[in-house]
Amino acid sequence: MSDDERMHAQRQVGPTTPDSDAAPHSYRRVTSFRSRRASLTEQQQEVWDRLWPSLGTLARPAGTGSDAAPAEPLDTAAWFGRRAPVVLEIGCGTGTSTLAMAQAEPDIDVVAVEVYRRGLAQLLSAIDREGVTNIRLVRGDGVDVLERMFTTATLTGVRVFFPDPWPKSRHHKRRLLQERTVGLIADRLVPGGLLHAATDHAGYAEHIAAVGDAETRLRRVPATEALPISVHRPITKYETKARHAGSEVTELLWVRRP
Ligand SMILES: C[S@@+](CC[C@H](N)C(=O)[O-])C[C@H]1O[C@@H](n2cnc3c(N)ncnc32)[C@H](O)[C@@H]1O
Repeated sequence: MSDDERMHAQRQVGPTTPDSDAAPHSYRRVTSFRSRRASLTEQQQEVWDRLWPSLGTLARPAGTGSDAAPAEPLDTAAWFGRRAPVVLEIGCGTGTSTLAMAQAEPDIDVVAVEVYRRGLAQLLSAIDREGVTNIRLVRGDGVDVLERMFTTATLTGVRVFFPDPWPKSRHHKRRLLQERTVGLIADRLVPGGLLHAATDHAGYAEHIAAVGDAETRLRRVPATEALPISVHRPITKYETKARHAGSEVTELLWVRRP
């Protein structure tokens, strides 16, 4: 099956193999994350065991090594049990924004991607506690998710809040928001769909602004324009720390041209 055929084949979402503490896989491509090992509390593990099979999936199926084929396109209607606009959040951390924004917009379905298992576990616990029904989780690399789990014009929004800035110039190649990823995002957005990025790193903000503005399928918009999804973010712990350290937060918005 060619890549293109694979991307258009529909996938039934079902239980995934129970996950481990280890980072999902070592990828040969340069990634925007470092692997972190962190065990779950007993309570997080209990919630994980109960909810992950229905609410979570892996960007690369487990147990087949670093050459594992990434998952095939998500059937979001089957996974959420309804047809609704879908928003992808890449690098959701512990899910503070994910949860609040999904609760504020119950008619939108949110797919949250993170490599950090404890972050996803915290989000799962919050979903359980609050009874939220419009969030699903993917563990793995957001680039894999964009490449393989969504097809052209399937996302109403993509959110990337405080992506790791990789401040040293020799590490800039690891930044998530590069020309290629922004191009993929532009392809996956529906016409009128929104890319919303926020960063506290001035240099990265300039870089994101430049690559977003250079992407001809995107048009920069102010937050005051009528937009398909909310851009109201809660202030996370990460952002509070950044502000205390004197960093300004830059908010960047583009809509996909028709
Ligand atoms: C600085 S934290 C910000 C977390 C959260 N968005 C917030 O605002 O609090 C960046 C997060 O992105 C995750 N991350 C980095 N690259 C990623 C990728 N390619 N795919 C998925 N998650 C990624 C990291 O594991 C980390 O948790």
